[in-house]
Amino acid sequence: MRDAMGAPQSVLVLGGGSDIGFAVVEALVDDRTRRVVLAGRDVAAIDDRAESLRARGAVVDVVAYDALTPQATETVIAAARTRGDIDVVVVAFGRLGLPFSLDDPTVDTTELSELNFTAAIAAMQAAARTLKIQGHGSLVVLSSVAGMRVRPENAVYGATKAGVDGFALALADALHGSGVHVMVVRPGFVHTKMTEGRPKAPFSTTADAVALDIVEGIRRRRRVVWSPGVLRFAFTALRVLPAPLWRKLAS
Ligand SMILES: NC(=O)c1ccc[n+]([C@@H]2O[C@H](COP(=O)([O-])OP(=O)(O)OC[C@H]3O[C@@H](n4cnc5c(N)ncnc54)[C@H](OP(=O)(O)O)[C@@H]3O)[C@@H](O)[C@H]2O)c1
Repeated sequence: MRDAMGAPQSVLVLGGGSDIGFAVVEALVDDRTRRVVLAGRDVAAIDDRAESLRARGAVVDVVAYDALTPQATETVIAAARTRGDIDVVVVAFGRLGLPFSLDDPTVDTTELSELNFTAAIAAMQAAARTLKIQGHGSLVVLSSVAGMRVRPENAVYGATKAGVDGFALALADALHGSGVHVMVVRPGFVHTKMTEGRPKAPFSTTADAVALDIVEGIRRRRRVVWSPGVLRFAFTALRVLPAPLWRKLAS
């Protein structure tokens, strides 16, 4: 439940090693959230990182979680709920994958789609069901501007994000009036582990800046958050740009 000032008291991050996910937790803890569950693959590394949250007064559990394992989200949620309701669930796992190429048969189309789309919507469904039973909570889903108009180089990643974005918006509609808030986050290029060594895109930003936008979005119960906000206008135009111009811009 939220405290007297309306701040969430507990948060679960699915993909607890994510730089953006961790920055969200740091911002929430700074805003009085006290119970944190970080669910991820590299438990030891996540636990080390969690010390900074514990030093700020948060109670942090780190649990093993592989999003590709069937029922993994249900198991993690059940464990997290033994300490009480979950106010915020952040779906933060994902991979960028190799640049898409029709000439390279090793490009991991299936694996990437299974993680970024199939596992993500399964996780969202499990989390949404739990929040609906509780009758409250925010489900925060990391989509991307890459899904708003998919570039050839990013074909698989962008397509999975387009699918995740659509599923999350449908969940938001399905849960309207239930007390549960579903928020789709559409960051642009964020400097994190995922983008290390990649050429940066216009309006690039940091995990901390995205986290502040997310925390503000939770507070205001936003349906969609663009980060930075200017990308909303950029992509409103880019989505209707004629294909020849888009191809030039996207290459
Ligand atoms: N960075 C950007 O520019 C950007 C822009 C828009 C949207 N996003 C989205 O934001 C989310 C967070 O990305 P980020 O930038 O914070 O990248 P990140 O730091 O690389 O975080 C991604 C996390 O996903 C985890 N993961 C990968 N496979 C997993 C699996 N099978 N089970 C559980 N966790 C798994 C990784 O865990 P390991 O450490 O174990 O590999 C990693 O901790 C992603 O969904 C990403 O698509 C990122």
